[in-house]
Amino acid sequence: MKKRYITTAIPYMNGEPHIGHAMDYCLADVFARYLRLTGAEVRLQAGTDEHGSKIAQKAEEQGVDVQEFVDLKVKTFREFIAKLGVEYTDFVRTTDAEHEKRVQKIWKKLEPHIYKASYEGWYCTGCERFITEKECKDNDGICPDHLKKYEKLSEENYYLKISDFKNEIREAILSDRMKILPDFRKKEILALLEDSPDVSISRPRSQLEWGVPVPDDDEQVMYVWLDALSNYITVLGYPESDITNWWPAEAQFVGKDILRFHAIIWPAMLIGLGLDLPKVLVSHGMILANGQKMSKSIGNVVDPVEVIERHGVDAFRYFFLRHIDTFSDSDFTWEKFENSYNNELANDLGNLVQRLATLAKKNGVKLDNNLEVPQISEEYDEIMRRFEFSHGFDYVWEKIQGLNKKIDEEKPWVLAKMVRLRN
Ligand code: MSP
Repeated sequence: MKKRYITTAIPYMNGEPHIGHAMDYCLADVFARYLRLTGAEVRLQAGTDEHGSKIAQKAEEQGVDVQEFVDLKVKTFREFIAKLGVEYTDFVRTTDAEHEKRVQKIWKKLEPHIYKASYEGWYCTGCERFITEKECKDNDGICPDHLKKYEKLSEENYYLKISDFKNEIREAILSDRMKILPDFRKKEILALLEDSPDVSISRPRSQLEWGVPVPDDDEQVMYVWLDALSNYITVLGYPESDITNWWPAEAQFVGKDILRFHAIIWPAMLIGLGLDLPKVLVSHGMILANGQKMSKSIGNVVDPVEVIERHGVDAFRYFFLRHIDTFSDSDFTWEKFENSYNNELANDLGNLVQRLATLAKKNGVKLDNNLEVPQISEEYDEIMRRFEFSHGFDYVWEKIQGLNKKIDEEKPWVLAKMVRLRN
């Protein structure tokens, strides 16, 4: 049996699950289920990103111990993932002792590409990354994603020599050995790669207590991204276990905001470790409300659990796959959701099921609950391989509407009545 590995980004444990988080889970889960239908054995990973100053600050604000704080958040997230009906097989927490030990081993293996230097520059605690002077100027000193002022930092850090890996990463992207989807993000990433300096992969302990200690240096704690990105392989047992049955991942699902980490730092780490690069990085767009970022202060946040409780998880997943564009930013509005619910799910699909069930019941036909899964057509297969989920649904919907039309035209109830009369 073919073995396939699919991953989702691991959310920061500093807030509640929101509708944006559902995107990674829904896309990855649907792709995993599709691969299972084609006969593959699939592992789907999920997890939680629990280190970093943002999380420590949040816990402190609430006067709670950080570990207790993240334990509670993880519980909420696990419940959320279950509510979404995600059939994941592996779950990793970055505070798992096993994960921490493995990340330290990963660090040791990367040491030939690591050096220590001092640095002064702008930092965004929201993005957890250093910002270039130019980027800081272009954004007037404020992070457009987090609406927070960049902080000036001056400190000693360890660096990963991205320069050691640039050529191979560039080649992998250009040749699609590590495919980046959508295609239009490729150019952006290639430009970022050319300008990318070596990246800082640690912070002084005085600045960041809450993280994995750097091996053999009590003064330094690992940068959250090095820790977080490693989750994709530590969960498979790397480095103690041979992971080549599962790695490289068939597809890694991430939001466009974190593609740069997955397309530059992550491949650099993998090459440094002598591992293959993921086959595809699928970077999805952001979910907005009427073109705006959802935020508590604007008051336009849609609670995904409310949608699921009102209309059920299948309707929620359907909407996400069909009406939230996979690759560009899309709006979630109750109006759009309810229109799709009423017109497509209730009218098209609901009607079809009801008509068939009534016909079957009236004519004494027994309905089989264990229907064989139909053969996947070549056309549908191609659509799914291109991760065009919304087109996949268009294809299925053509079949549903076609059947409804056929029933209207052929009026099988008339035929059934004639047969009944004749008998
Ligand atoms: N912790 C990092 C990811 C580490 S992966 C090794 C992180 N966490 S996050 O909580 O900010 O985001 C988790 C995922 O949710 C990311 O893929 C991100 O793009 C996605 N989304 C967060 N808000 C979103 C929207 N509004 N819309 C769509 N996806 C969004 O980044």
